[in-house]
Amino acid sequence: MSKILFQKAMEIAKNAIALDEEGNYDTAIKRYLESADILMRYIQLSTNPEMKRICYERAQEYIRRASELREATPSRRRKVSRPRGKRKDGKAPKSSEPLTEEEEKLRDAISETIVVEKPNIKLSEVANLETAKQALRESIILPILRPDLFKGGRQPWKGILLYGPPGCGKTYLSKAIATECDATFLNADAASLVSKWLGESERLIKELFSLAREEAPSIVFIDEVDSIATARGAKEMGGERRIKTQLLIEMDGMKAKKDERIIILGATNRPWDLDAAFRRRFEKKIYIGLPDVKARELMFKLNTREVEIAPDIDFSEFAKLTEGYTGSDISLLCREAVMMPIREIDLTQDITRIDKVRPVSRDDFIAAMEKIKPVVSPEELKQYDEWTQNYGME
Ligand SMILES: Nc1ncnc2c1ncn2[C@@H]1O[C@H](COP(=O)(O)OP(=O)(O)OP(=O)(O)O)[C@@H](O)[C@H]1O
Ligand SMILES: [Mg+2]
Repeated sequence: MSKILFQKAMEIAKNAIALDEEGNYDTAIKRYLESADILMRYIQLSTNPEMKRICYERAQEYIRRASELREATPSRRRKVSRPRGKRKDGKAPKSSEPLTEEEEKLRDAISETIVVEKPNIKLSEVANLETAKQALRESIILPILRPDLFKGGRQPWKGILLYGPPGCGKTYLSKAIATECDATFLNADAASLVSKWLGESERLIKELFSLAREEAPSIVFIDEVDSIATARGAKEMGGERRIKTQLLIEMDGMKAKKDERIIILGATNRPWDLDAAFRRRFEKKIYIGLPDVKARELMFKLNTREVEIAPDIDFSEFAKLTEGYTGSDISLLCREAVMMPIREIDLTQDITRIDKVRPVSRDDFIAAMEKIKPVVSPEELKQYDEWTQNYGME
């Protein structure tokens, strides 16, 4: 598998070089970056240190060449406006100093890697997770709404880690929290931070935090944080170590400046991979576990809104039948079930001529349950329990 990746990366790089020589710079840039991206993935899979080193050097070389080309090609020198969420008060940004060309370039890179968004998910759309919601209210929403109450001994948490099995709402809940407190939400997915910009990632992280400070109150959300903050070992590359160090420095800086309203929210489904230094800096750790029976019932309701369902359907029955399902399992299951009436028509009749679709029935849901099985195993859940006992909340 990993060998194929390497061959593919080399093929793409060859193509990039050919395009480069032909003068087809725009496509060459894309191909160089694509190749570097694949090499970085290869590095993560490979166990051969020598190959890792070679690939790392090549990837860096391709990224360097791509940046060179980007600079030299006038059509690429777009003036990307600085990525920012709209300020609530509609005022101009705090720092009106013009950016140097270098900074401008990094901001461009940020806008490609980091999404600054105003998510639109209501907390009421997140089923249950009451403990987690309360903990996040205390640590994020209240301090942002009433900074005056959080002084002296009553310091809000600055680093919060959401952990738990995949598909249980870590990302979803984070977005709902950001919606609720109307903060700027800088959404950086760690894997792309590391792989896309490896030469520049540490500066990218610096810029990310300076943008967060300018746009405060803000939440820096690092999804899949384990891909940056893994335990530091001898095998890792210099670049990766520098990214980690930079992130640690920024997190310490945030803690030192008490009146700064920035919160870093990390999410991971592999908390045990986290480096001890990060574990300590995420002061508050919140477990986002499997939904209980009540939460599952609500999820069925939420996922079938705006679809006509048979009147005899009892969601509490489905909730009892889906022990062990995650939020995303249930959302998949519902998508499968509500498609069944449509599929039926498509097989037997001309769908363009139909004006009424039959309601979704109990049998549709039961059939979907047969198809979609829970993804998280009991052994995995045990692993989370153990970690919670050692490091987590409660
Ligand atoms: N508590 C919940 N309430 C409502 N919907 C949920 C909930 N949990 C999960 N979902 C549904 O499952 C989808 C996946 O959830 P999400 O992306 O937040 O999972 P995650 O915990 O971040 O998983 P991963 O660790 O794989 O990133 C959501 O888009 C949502 O539709
Ligand atoms: Mg997620």
